[in-house]
Amino acid sequence: MTSPIKPPEGNWWDQPINRRESIWLGIGVGWSVILFGWMSAFTRIGDQNPIGETYRVEAEDYRDKLQAYVDEGTDTEEGLVPPGDDVYIGAGQFYWDGLPVVLETGQEYDFHLAAYDVQHGFSVRPEHTLSKQINLQVLPGYEWIVPMEFDEPGTYRVLCNEFCGDGHEAMHGRIIVQEG
Ligand code: CUA
Repeated sequence: MTSPIKPPEGNWWDQPINRRESIWLGIGVGWSVILFGWMSAFTRIGDQNPIGETYRVEAEDYRDKLQAYVDEGTDTEEGLVPPGDDVYIGAGQFYWDGLPVVLETGQEYDFHLAAYDVQHGFSVRPEHTLSKQINLQVLPGYEWIVPMEFDEPGTYRVLCNEFCGDGHEAMHGRIIVQEG
């Protein structure tokens, strides 16, 4: 059988490398080193890094903390008015503990997020533009404190956007934001 590809002739492997090829190889290696360094740097200085603080917490302890917070807050028809700047939210299969909550615009709140069982997704979306959203992961074993402020009054939906079991799609909550 004949091949359409001609076999190379002579001592083809022992040729000096073309200068251009060396230069491009050098650029390739240099660029890889820069990207490698940047990967490491970006996890430290990038804007995408999560803000706030995270603490280890047992689900039961977090449940107690949240209950104490609910007891201190004011229950209204629309939802819970928190006693201070802290807002506690617990994610469980398949509900948002602590919601609905009534907040004010122009005030910075410290959102405390933790899960009771499995990983959930905390997705906050204004009711009139559901495609506008922020999404955070809520993990069991950790309490994540995230500062948040609402600019516009309105109703914000809280949806779970991490598949967490049979009932995940029903995991809804609400944040009601009033003019402060
Ligand atoms: Cu909780 Cu999906």
